[in-house]
Amino acid sequence: MRRILVAGNWKMNLLQSQGAALSQFLAGKYGSCAVEILVCPASPYLSGVGTTIRGSAVQLGAQNLYFAPQGAFTGEVCGEMLKDVGCGWVLVGHSERRQFFGEQDELLAKKVAAGLQHGLKVVLCVGELLAERQAGQTEAVLEKQMAGLAQVSAEQMANIVIAYEPVWAIGTGVTASTEQAQQAHAFLRSQLKSRYGEAVASATRILYGGSVKADNALELLSQSDVDGALVGGASLKVDSFSAIIEAGIQAQARKS
Ligand code: 13P
Repeated sequence: MRRILVAGNWKMNLLQSQGAALSQFLAGKYGSCAVEILVCPASPYLSGVGTTIRGSAVQLGAQNLYFAPQGAFTGEVCGEMLKDVGCGWVLVGHSERRQFFGEQDELLAKKVAAGLQHGLKVVLCVGELLAERQAGQTEAVLEKQMAGLAQVSAEQMANIVIAYEPVWAIGTGVTASTEQAQQAHAFLRSQLKSRYGEAVASATRILYGGSVKADNALELLSQSDVDGALVGGASLKVDSFSAIIEAGIQAQARKS
């Protein structure tokens, strides 16, 4: 039985007071919860948000890391620092990192390995561009991007979550249909099976991301291979994010 994970990727949004208000509300509302909840603030605010949510069911994640353990890498942040400020999680390979910062699978595999090495759970993001979907290349792209797992052993997969985020659905208001999401997730699970075998494939959570909102979350999260949501825009507001968490709780109850 996979436990649903509802994760908010705040991206480069929310100033200190806004993030504090949102995290205070979430921590107050979810002292415990049937689903896992994760928030990923911008790096200057990790420590503050971490303090606010301590002792609640809300967990802390970073949006990125660099693979080197320390040193002369101006502007970068390593896994040990993230751990040091209280992160339990880190996102790797978000499409915005791939698109705007040129991050490719080989680099991402090093980042995934570095995150695990420092005791962080890693959400590896994958997803095809609109042109790739239209050209019938979705599965080939997803298979290639699973190379982000190149250095991950079967044992370490317990600390990996995959996030399927079709790039054409991110921030566009266009959500993948439940069929499109389920199909891609089932494909990703088959990839996990061929890499790691049945037990790991069926234990690994695969999140959907891309215009998840309060009104489509329950349907998406009810799909058999959809084990959670990675939410951008709708995670920035108390009402929409808590409605998605509530949808997660309902979907979890349906599945158990
Ligand atoms: P939106 O929910 O704003 O489409 O963003 C999805 C995303 O990129 C989460 O990582």
